[in-house]
Amino acid sequence: MGKLMIKKSRSLMGEIKIPGDKSISHRALIFSSMGEGESIIKNFLFSQDCISTMNCLRALGTSIEICENVIKVKGNGINGFREPENVLDAGNSGTTIRLFTGLLSGLPGIFSVITGDDSLRRRPMKRVVEPLLGMGAKIWGRNGGNNPPLAIKGEKLKGRDHTLSVASAQVKSALLIAGLLADGETSVTEPSLSRDHTERIFQYLGLPLIRNGLTLKTHGIEGFKNKDFNIPGDFSSAAFIIAAGLLVEGSKIFIKNVGINPTRIGMLSVLKEAGAKIQILNQWEEGGEPIGDLIVEFSILESFEVRGEIVPKLIDEVPILAIIATQAKGKSVFKDVGELKVKESDRIKAVVDGINKMGGKAEIIDEGFVVYGPTKLNGNEIETYNDHRIAMSFAIAGLLADGETIVESNSISISFPNFGETIKKLGGNIIELQS
Ligand code: S3P
Repeated sequence: MGKLMIKKSRSLMGEIKIPGDKSISHRALIFSSMGEGESIIKNFLFSQDCISTMNCLRALGTSIEICENVIKVKGNGINGFREPENVLDAGNSGTTIRLFTGLLSGLPGIFSVITGDDSLRRRPMKRVVEPLLGMGAKIWGRNGGNNPPLAIKGEKLKGRDHTLSVASAQVKSALLIAGLLADGETSVTEPSLSRDHTERIFQYLGLPLIRNGLTLKTHGIEGFKNKDFNIPGDFSSAAFIIAAGLLVEGSKIFIKNVGINPTRIGMLSVLKEAGAKIQILNQWEEGGEPIGDLIVEFSILESFEVRGEIVPKLIDEVPILAIIATQAKGKSVFKDVGELKVKESDRIKAVVDGINKMGGKAEIIDEGFVVYGPTKLNGNEIETYNDHRIAMSFAIAGLLADGETIVESNSISISFPNFGETIKKLGGNIIELQS
């Protein structure tokens, strides 16, 4: 198993480009497979999760070629998928399995089974399976349909109105995809706004979508023509570099080409309130997604609170925000973050245990946790539960800690394959260990 050893580092300096956005890479592949004709995808994220989506689509008959750094997808249209010959493997990717459950449910005559790794097979699927059953889908799974493997017999679905109890972009997207394949109208209402990449892709591709507050409405279609994609850098990967820049004394980092979709950058508002020196420069748009260059500098921070409607806009950044909180003055509170218990690992437990193991102070509270700062951190070997965001968060903590910090590193290829090299390029003290 690969490991990273991280030691205290002096100021991080330089300019870097962040790899493509994971959420948008999945969606660009899926929608290009559903469309008709060729689509070229630039700045695609070649990470394990996105490769899982690519393999599943190939198994459904889509031709996907990798030519140098771009991807060429030949879509066969929404009626052009073929039955997969084997079990589909979503690996560690919640986005793959949930979006595919929406897609596969609406492909009449196609039988499929989709599963994933140990972590994915523990994650809840009822949130997507139940509303799809209401549209006439035929889905079976372990624990009453809540856990993969899921077996799906594609049907002609019937449009329906859905009110979600969790703000989940994966569930929303699965239902909107199912809505495109269904007879009649489908609506989805979220309790608060989650990332809206699917909605932006609908608009970019000219697919039917009306937004009314938190309600989205679509309807069944015959087909659509493909368009090319140019994927912005992933803000959730940039978040680790932002944290390194804010926390390592004397740092100044220029981060180029980062997606700054308002439904993704809740972390920036929280950190700005806490006194972080982060600026967005040169804003532009690609395929309906806002992009910018960022400058981040070492900053003295006050404690902060994360709760309520902002949570879905920074859900993947909570672990690294918790590391930042160890260096902020006072008690930082993370509330309404119960969803973190059902991510790639129980991220509340992983973060609180890891911070305490490094000599910081964190406690679990109802639906969340608190972190006290500033505290001196000491290097240690941290349990990551093979969760990429936990591994990267504690690698960043290691840049500030006395002694050596060790984290498992195989999981990092799920979302940010060149994380270690990027930190090294900026001057971080990080070494890959093989064992
Ligand atoms: C994602 C949505 C979020 C996020 C995940 C990616 C997506 O999950 O945590 O990393 O691509 O739609 P939920 O939609 O389950 O909150």
